[in-house]
Amino acid sequence: MKVIKTIEELRPIIKAWRKEGQSVGLVPTMGYLHEGHKSLIVKAAAENDRVVVSDFVNPTQFGVNEDLASYPRDIARDARVCEEAGADLIFHPEPEEMYFRDSCTFVNMGKLTEGLCGKTRPTHFQGVCTVVCKLFHIVAPDKAYFGQKDAQQLAVIRRMVRDLNFDIEIVGCPIVREEDGLAMSSRNTYLDDAERAAALILHKSLMLGKEMIGQGEHDAAKIKEAIMQNIKSEPLARIDYVEIVNPDTMENVDTVEGAALIAMAVYIGKTRLIDNIVIVNDKNKCRLL
Ligand code: PAF
Repeated sequence: MKVIKTIEELRPIIKAWRKEGQSVGLVPTMGYLHEGHKSLIVKAAAENDRVVVSDFVNPTQFGVNEDLASYPRDIARDARVCEEAGADLIFHPEPEEMYFRDSCTFVNMGKLTEGLCGKTRPTHFQGVCTVVCKLFHIVAPDKAYFGQKDAQQLAVIRRMVRDLNFDIEIVGCPIVREEDGLAMSSRNTYLDDAERAAALILHKSLMLGKEMIGQGEHDAAKIKEAIMQNIKSEPLARIDYVEIVNPDTMENVDTVEGAALIAMAVYIGKTRLIDNIVIVNDKNKCRLL
C-alpha cells in the first residue's frame, strides 16, 4: 500500500488519475482502522475508480484535556486494512504538513455544532470542519465517505458542503457493530474487560428507546428519561448527553414523528463513547433507518 506523507507528492498522483478520467473517492479517518472504516473503504472502492484514505489524527479537533496523545496509532496495520478493502493509497501527513505554525483560517459553523457533542467539546467541530475542508481541497474527490456513528459530524459536513459549494457528494454509511451490539470505535481499545461489558448499555438503551416508540410512545421527554434511567443502572456509566433530535438540523424534537435521531455520549470509566439510532416513525410503523 502506497503511504504518501506530503501534499506535494499527493497532488500529481491525483492529477494523473484525473487526466485519465478516473473518479476519486475519499475516506477521511484518524487511523487505527476497524471494520466500520473498512466498510467505508469497500463502499468507496465499489463506487469510484480510485480511493484515497486519509489517516491523520487531527490535533485541532481535540480539546485540551482530551486524548490526543494517547489516541491509538498503527499505520502498518492501517495499510493492511486499506489493502484488503481496496484503497489505492493512504495519505498520512504529519501535523506540520497539514497546519502552518501560524495558521489562522478556520471553518466555523453556528447552531448545528452547539448542541450534542458540541456542548462538552466546544472546539471539536471547528477542528473537524477545518481539516475536512482542507482534505477536500487537497484531494478534490467526487465522493467522500463518513460513518453514521458520528451522526452530528455527518450532518455538519453535509451542511458545510452545501454552504461552501463543494462539488462533492457526501455518502453516509451505516454504523458497524460488534456481534453484541457495541458500535465499532477506535476508542473501544481503551476499555478493560469490565468496561467493555458495561459499554453495552449504550446500544441496549437505544434499543429501549426504539421499543418504546414501537409500542406507541411518541413523547420525546419520556423516551429520553427512560433511556437515561437505563444508562444510570450501569455503575460504570456516566452520561454526557442523551438527545432526541431532527437528524438534519440537530434540533430537539418534542414528539417522535417522521425521522428522529436518538444520540448519546456516555463515559464508561474514562472513555467517552458515542452511539445513535435513527428511527422512522410513519403512520405508527416504527423502523430503524
Ligand atoms: O471521524 C473522524 O475520524 C474524524 O473526525 C475525521 C472526519 C477524519 C476528521 O478528522
